[in-house]
Amino acid sequence: MRERLLAAEKVTAIEWREGALHLLDQRLLPFEERWLRYDTAAAVAEAIRSMVVRGAPAIGISAAYALVLGAQARLAAGGDWQAALEADFQVLADSRPTAVNLFWALNRMRERLLRLKESDDPLAALDAEARAIHLSDREANLTMAQLGADLIRKYQGNLQTLLTHCNTGALATGGFGTALGVIRAAYLDGLVERVYVDETRPWLQGARLTAWELANEGIPLSLNADAAAAHLMKTKGITWVIVGADRITANGDVANKIGTYQLAVNAMHHGVRFMVVAPSSTIDMSLASGDAIVIEERDGRELLELAGRRVAADVPAVNPVFDVTPADLIDFIITEKGIVERPDTAKMKRLMCRKRLH
Ligand code: MRU
Repeated sequence: MRERLLAAEKVTAIEWREGALHLLDQRLLPFEERWLRYDTAAAVAEAIRSMVVRGAPAIGISAAYALVLGAQARLAAGGDWQAALEADFQVLADSRPTAVNLFWALNRMRERLLRLKESDDPLAALDAEARAIHLSDREANLTMAQLGADLIRKYQGNLQTLLTHCNTGALATGGFGTALGVIRAAYLDGLVERVYVDETRPWLQGARLTAWELANEGIPLSLNADAAAAHLMKTKGITWVIVGADRITANGDVANKIGTYQLAVNAMHHGVRFMVVAPSSTIDMSLASGDAIVIEERDGRELLELAGRRVAADVPAVNPVFDVTPADLIDFIITEKGIVERPDTAKMKRLMCRKRLH
């Protein structure tokens, strides 16, 4: 299966080459594939804030490479470069608050800095650490894709109708995707009849990005308004809702793109299984429950305008871009360390003690 998945990898959105970070500008997809080059940590932080790159794992990977760029500049400037690098850590940490992968990657880079020996080349060490973060996310995607597809086969061996939300594919990760990785693997295994794709207002990650990724691979899909999801569960024989995550807390609560919570409520009402797919870098055992997660609120103009044109009355808007799905609405959390069924604190603790499966 691993080889078949690797052969199916088509899209990348993050490239580290020629001493710079190159990002596919996701704001322009699916109409234009434009790559942007980044040479400074501050510029990468702005790319994260403005959604050139988005998706929890992709944000973490980009931040790791950004610190290599930061270290390069601080070393060249001379003086106490490690103290100066703190400003880059800070600007990256301030870019977006909800996805924990960003802070996880920054911590890993900091730990590498703390382990530097006199004889180490600091730039080579940080470069290797950022590449390792990128590579391990790609490997985690492959493991999760196989685990998720196997689970679908175990519960329902015949053709399945799935529903997904936001974009969790190659664009959002370092490799094959999380929830979309499972969907792609299940399709390769002949398990998927159709994927319903929530358009994912207001930023349209479903309509612009997920639809583009699935269509590129010839996977049958229908795009639907977010508000159609309950009706589709009732009328279209949907058997699984499969989503990613931005932060999973110690009790198994899941922060993900706004609209995920109402999907989970509706899935439970309709007897549809609810699967969350995320690498262990998305799990934040320092928070007891989802109540402690900071939910990003973005500019109301994302709701009030469409493509820069006002579409709403002259009113204030509220734009939380993530929500928290309580653990008791979740059937499975798939990670590269294994599967948790009906998550709770004890099961999440046991999961985090396990080794990665690859
Ligand atoms: O605002 P975004 O596009 O960064 O939100 C992305 C999501 O909510 C994804 O579902 C999540 O990051 C998982 S991506 C593998």
